Amino acid sequence: MFKINENYLKLPGSYLFSTIAKKVSAYTEANPDKDIIRLGIGDVTLPLAPCVIERLHKAVDEMASKETFKGYAPDLGYEFLRDAIALNDFKMRGCDISADEIFVSDGAKSDSGNIGDIFATDNKIAVCDPVYPVYVDTNAMAGRTGVYDQDTQKWSDVIYMPCTKENNFCPEIPSQTSDIIYLCFPNNPTGTTIPKDKLQEWVDYALKVGAVIIYDAAYEAYISSDDVVHSIYECNGAKGCAIEIRSFSKNAGFTGTRLGYTVVPHDLKCNGTSLHSLWARRHGTKFNGAPYIIQAAGAQIYTEEGKKQTKEMVSYYMNNAKIIREGLIDAGYEVYGGVDAPYIWLATPDKMTSWEFFDYLLEELNIVGTPGSGFGPSGEGYFRLTAFGSYENTKRAVERIVNK
Ligand SMILES: Cc1ncc(COP(=O)(O)O)c(C=O)c1O
Repeated sequence: MFKINENYLKLPGSYLFSTIAKKVSAYTEANPDKDIIRLGIGDVTLPLAPCVIERLHKAVDEMASKETFKGYAPDLGYEFLRDAIALNDFKMRGCDISADEIFVSDGAKSDSGNIGDIFATDNKIAVCDPVYPVYVDTNAMAGRTGVYDQDTQKWSDVIYMPCTKENNFCPEIPSQTSDIIYLCFPNNPTGTTIPKDKLQEWVDYALKVGAVIIYDAAYEAYISSDDVVHSIYECNGAKGCAIEIRSFSKNAGFTGTRLGYTVVPHDLKCNGTSLHSLWARRHGTKFNGAPYIIQAAGAQIYTEEGKKQTKEMVSYYMNNAKIIREGLIDAGYEVYGGVDAPYIWLATPDKMTSWEFFDYLLEELNIVGTPGSGFGPSGEGYFRLTAFGSYENTKRAVERIVNK
């Protein structure tokens, strides 16, 4: 008789966004005339940049001709894309990352979930609290997190690093030794960043204790402050302890098109074994490459035209972030994030819980956001709004809050 992976049975039930969807649909069914504005899920709303669309069309035509047809992509991704990534995302920022340290994939969610394949089950993981849920859930599936406690909403074998206003939403180095540390900056859900000297402390710590940092920089394109690093490899020694994960979803609107990449530097070793060779083996065995047409379209964002067009998209969303941020501050809210990230993280007023504030916004103002407690226990008392809506809806939503 076969056996299932029982770790799946330990996963806590309902997923945050399905609970929200259920609550919203119950409300709209009971109140069909209400005009609901959704600032909840972190999906983009603008269409792909014109130069990306043009390249997609051309790449489709290439697939129609015997001379230009492409089959399986190279294991690590097409060289034209990896060269463009190495140059623009790293070398131009002073980071010595080469094209053969870049693994092209179908997105940051898969990579951040799959990266655990190359690590032993008895590693101790450390995560920020609140956190993007994929890191913890995929480690739970792999049997690395122990037992889930419904009351505390924590796993017994996970080190949680609270990120609250008291520590400026920057995790402190835990007293317990951790082996795999997940960091994400600019952060989802708090919309905040980490100062370079603090990130350097993490790199120094990882090098000292022999830990690996999985650095999720999916929101890197939203950084506008000069003193915020775009890559962990801007820190000294990071090539010896960090894997960086990037995505084309939020910088170029590829959420439905799917493209991302992971950097595993050659210097990163565990007792002499290169993590690069393990990830190459995993990638080559379990993944057959992102489609040629998508990689060709993705490379467009590194052209002058592509940079200009994607920058305009990011600016559009960041203008929404500014509207939300400033509107909420004027209305007397305590507001964080929204400067170098498309997320606004607000403290719920009047000691309301995150879900109480969710109900209040939905029922009184017909606005949908995301309760902070859904991202972890330290998210209780906070609430996330996203800047990914349309300008018009963002403005209307903020007017509703300000005029209340
Ligand atoms: C922190 C973080 N990492 C990764 C992802 C997923 O990115 P992708 O669309 O490339 O899978 C998201 C998506 O919301 C995210 O918030």
